Formats: sequence, C-alpha cells, structure tokens
Amino acid sequence: MFYPEEIVQEVRSRADIVDVIGQYVNLKKKGANYFGLCPFHGEKTASFSVNPRMQIFHCFGCGKGGDVIKFTMEYENLTFPEAVRKIAEETGYKLPEMAQTAEQKKESDIRTRLLEINRTAAVYFFNALRAPQGQTGMNYFKKRELMDETLRIWGLGYADQTRDGLYQYLKSSGFDDDILHESGLITFSEKGVYDKFFNRVMFPIMDANNRVIGFGGRVLGDGEPKYLNSPETKLFDKSRNLFGLCYAKKSRKKSFILCEGYMDVIQLHQAGFTNAVASLGTALTEQQCRLIKRYVNEVLLTYDSDGAGINAAKRAMPMLKAVGINTKVINMKPYKDPDEFIKAMGLEAFQEHIDNARNSFLWLIDVMKMDYDLSDPAGMTQYTNDVAEKLSEITEPIERENYIKAVAREQMIDYDSLRKLVNHMGDLRERKQSPLNEKIYKHTDFISKADKKTKKETALQKSEKQLVTWLQEKPELIPSVRNYILPEDLSDETMQKVISMVYQQTPANEILDTFRDSDDEYEKVAAMFNGNLLSDDSDEYEFKRGLEDIIRNIKMTSLNTKIENETDPHRLTDLFKQQSDLMNLKL
Ligand code: UTP
Ligand code: MN
Repeated sequence: MFYPEEIVQEVRSRADIVDVIGQYVNLKKKGANYFGLCPFHGEKTASFSVNPRMQIFHCFGCGKGGDVIKFTMEYENLTFPEAVRKIAEETGYKLPEMAQTAEQKKESDIRTRLLEINRTAAVYFFNALRAPQGQTGMNYFKKRELMDETLRIWGLGYADQTRDGLYQYLKSSGFDDDILHESGLITFSEKGVYDKFFNRVMFPIMDANNRVIGFGGRVLGDGEPKYLNSPETKLFDKSRNLFGLCYAKKSRKKSFILCEGYMDVIQLHQAGFTNAVASLGTALTEQQCRLIKRYVNEVLLTYDSDGAGINAAKRAMPMLKAVGINTKVINMKPYKDPDEFIKAMGLEAFQEHIDNARNSFLWLIDVMKMDYDLSDPAGMTQYTNDVAEKLSEITEPIERENYIKAVAREQMIDYDSLRKLVNHMGDLRERKQSPLNEKIYKHTDFISKADKKTKKETALQKSEKQLVTWLQEKPELIPSVRNYILPEDLSDETMQKVISMVYQQTPANEILDTFRDSDDEYEKVAAMFNGNLLSDDSDEYEFKRGLEDIIRNIKMTSLNTKIENETDPHRLTDLFKQQSDLMNLKL
C-alpha cells in the first residue's frame, strides 16, 4: 500500500520523535538535543542523538539515522507502510482507505481469494490428519517424534487417498474452477480434475504474517519426489519467503538458525530453538538474505554435512555478508541435519554446538583442506599458500593478525612463516591495487573491505555537514550564505540536492523523504543534519566567524577544482578573483 506524501507528513507531524524514541531508549537532554544508548548497536557511551527541532535521530556510532518513521521501521522490523500505520494508530489518526486502480483491485481480489483457498485447504488437511483415514499420516508424524502441540502449532495435516477430496471440498466452499486453477492445489487435465497432493503429510507454508501461502507435502515412505511443493502462484514466491519466519521473528534472539528442511525447522522449534528458519528447499536467495537482515545480524548455518551442504554454505556466506550479516557454522557431524542431530543427541548437545559455532572464515579454511592431499609435501605447500592468499585479503591489520594466529594454531602451520607469507602477499596485492583492480577484488573478496561507515570524514565533508546543520537551525542566514555557496559547490550530487532543499527551507524530515529509496543515501543525509549543533547560549559573534570559515573551506575547494579544469584565461582570472575575495568574506 502506498501513502501519498501529504498523508505521510500528517502522520509524522502527529508523533513527537522524542516521545516515541523515549519509550524505548532512556534519553537525557544535553543542550538542544537528547542523548541515549543506541538501540541498534551495543555501546557503553551514549552516541545516539535525537533532535527535537528537526524531528530526526542519528547515531554517531553506527550511522543509523532518520525520522520517526525510519526509527519505527528499524526498531520494530516493519516496512514503511507498516510503520506509517503503526504511528497513525498510536496517535489516533485514521488513515484514509486508499483508492486503488481497477487493475490493482483485481489483483488484490485474486490474492485475497487465493489466501482464502489456502486457508480452507489447510483446515481440510488438518482435519483429515485427525480423521480415521488420516491414521497413516498421524503414525508417520509420531514416528518422527512430533508432539501433538507441535502438530497444532505448525498446522500439519494430511492429504488423503481420495482423488479429488480437496477439490470437492473447495467447490462446495464456493470457489470456482478459474481461481482453483490459479491456486496450484488442483490439477486440471484431459483425464479429469484431481488434487495435486495425494497420500502425503502436509506442511503449510506461512508468510511472515502467519498467512498460509502454499504447501509442502512429503511422501510417507520412500518415493519421488520426497517433497512436493505448491507451484509459484500470485501469492507464493519461494525466493521471498522463509519457512518458520512467522515464529522465528518473534523469538527475539540475536541470530537465526538457517537450515534446509521443513522437518529441521519444526524439530528445532519443538526443542526450543524457536529462531530456526529454512530456505524452502531452494538455494538461498538475495531477497531471503535481506528478509533475514530485517530481524537479525547473525546467522548460524546448519546445512547438511555432505558435499552439497558444504557447497550451499560456501555460497550462502558471501551473500549474507553482502547484506551485513555475520555468519557462523554449526557442526552437525556425524549427523545429516538438525532433525537427526537433535533426535540422536538431544537439545543440550545442540546448544553446545551453537555455543561453539565456528566463525565462517575459519570454517572455510578448514573445509578447503579437503581439496588437497596434505600427506604430500607439495599438497601441503599449495594448501598453505592458498590459505595465506585468503588471509592476505583481510585488509584490517588487527583482524588479519588475529586470523593468522587462529589459523596457524588450528591448522598447525608455523605462525612466523605464515605471517611472513601473508604479509608478503598483502604487499604484492597493495602494489597491484589500481582502481580497476579494486573493482575486481571487491567481488572476489571474502572478507569485505573495511565498513564504509567507519571511513574517516574529510575536512570538506565535515564543513558541508556543518553548513547544512547550521542553516537548518538558523534559516535567516540562508540569503547571505547563498551569495557565496551555490549547490554545485558541494562535493557530490547528494549534498547538492540537500543544500538546494535547505535553501528552500524544506524541513529536514521532508528532505529525508526524497532519499527513502536508497538506504545508503538516506543515512548519509540523516548524518548531514548532525554536524555540531548550536548550543542554546552560543555566541553570535563566534558563530558567524565559524560559519565564515566553513564557507571559505567549501568555496575554496570548489574553486580549486574549477581552476584545474579551466583553460579560458578570462574565466581563470575571474576564478582567481573570487578566491581572493573569499579572504575578505564577512557575514
Ligand atoms: P532433504 O532431502 O535434505 O530432506 O531436503 P529433509 O529435509 O532431510 O527431509 P526428511 O527429514 O527426510 O523429511 C531438504 C529440503 O529440500 C526441499 C524440502 O524443503 C526439504 O525439507 N526438498 C527436498 C524439496 O522441496 N523437494 C524434494 O524432493 C526434496
Ligand atoms: Mn531430514
């Protein structure tokens, strides 16, 4: 659902950001702002600030920032429209029913009908499992050691051995053939109409909001395919869902346990590991990674301990890393998957393995071994070289050093020689590093380059930030600043867009609205409103001298760039004159 800007602004204006954040964070007033411990990263000193005048927040530690809607999204793991609805509700604002186009209406009607069909089918399967004809299904679940409570929580069911029992049931519930066709639960063919699922135990697949969007059905014994799944429908997009997410998201744990199968998730939840999810039998997708990131920053991988499972884990790690998720690997050996592990070893043993989960880098170094013949000196040398190569890709010196130590210890490689080798390779790499090379390395790097947020601000960026902040606080200075600084004088497009809007006296949170589509830009802009703030008693004279310095710094840099690129002597003279005028700048 899309809300027009006026509505978003109306909702936002009704909530005071200090009140909203104050419910979750203990805020203390310091000067014009409020400060507290950042709820988005662990810290001991308060670097999380809330600005009541601009109605925005910003954390100097982790870089998160934005308006009250953004805070609600981040804190409550909500999408933008969900956050708008939550704030509207809390402030007693009635959101208007959104008008839809005829096309949108038709689509959403179909989706609603499909949801009803899936829900009805889930009830049908659920009841069938408990009826006399469901006894075989029930026996199967019992054999797999599922408790009644578990069967209920997951809505597990049974597709019986009638050819079209579900079809008849859905028909009598008022669904016509067209929509049943779209549901993927019924097969229409020349031979007739029959149910897709036949003599299988049924696993409803729920989305994050507990709505049934599809099914997986398992054969009772051996047979192909082992699991039959609903086809993709208007409702069911495998790549955007995770099995178990509707419960895992409420677990409030700091990580998710990512596994492969339905039974793994269910067995883990039954054992109390309610943060388990599965990628629905497909290779993990980028959308699923982003979905996970909405809830946690760490994933524990429990892929099957066979070759395919290891490859799946190797593939998943960089994908998770790319969205900012830290990965660890839980050792499942000698069992195939969590389901078998828990049943054989119990939950304490599994917890122990969670506590000892391996950092994904060290795990990778370990499994690399399988590709070499380590009894052969040549194989050992090759392995050591390749390990050193991987280590040399870590750019952060302390991190690199720690990993060298750990790898030397674990792989029984002589520490000093390994360190020399790694640093030598690191030097070679640095020498090779041209901007073009950098691009290539970015994609192959296992450990990504130092987080960009932690990069040092340049003096220029600092000045620009200061300018934006101060002009927000003292708009009466805009006319005189404008005489010197044009939007084009700022160092990049984002800043240029921001300063143009500041000149038009657009409020900070409305400026932020225009960057909502890009998380990176959004946070960068939120940070721009958090240069040093003026304290209430700041001296007018001091302040103006400070502002002059900032203007000089920005304009001088901009003029220097222009001078470098200018060939026309007249224009050059003019640029030089502008530079010398700057020296006498007086506000
Ligand atoms: P596995 O073959 O590892 O099965 O497939 P499993 O989860 O251990 O199943 P159980 O314990 O024998 O019941 C892992 C996951 O891959 C998907 C399913 O989601 C399954 O849980 N899968 C597997 C399919 O979708 N279709 C198949 O035919 C097989
Ligand atoms: Mn299994």
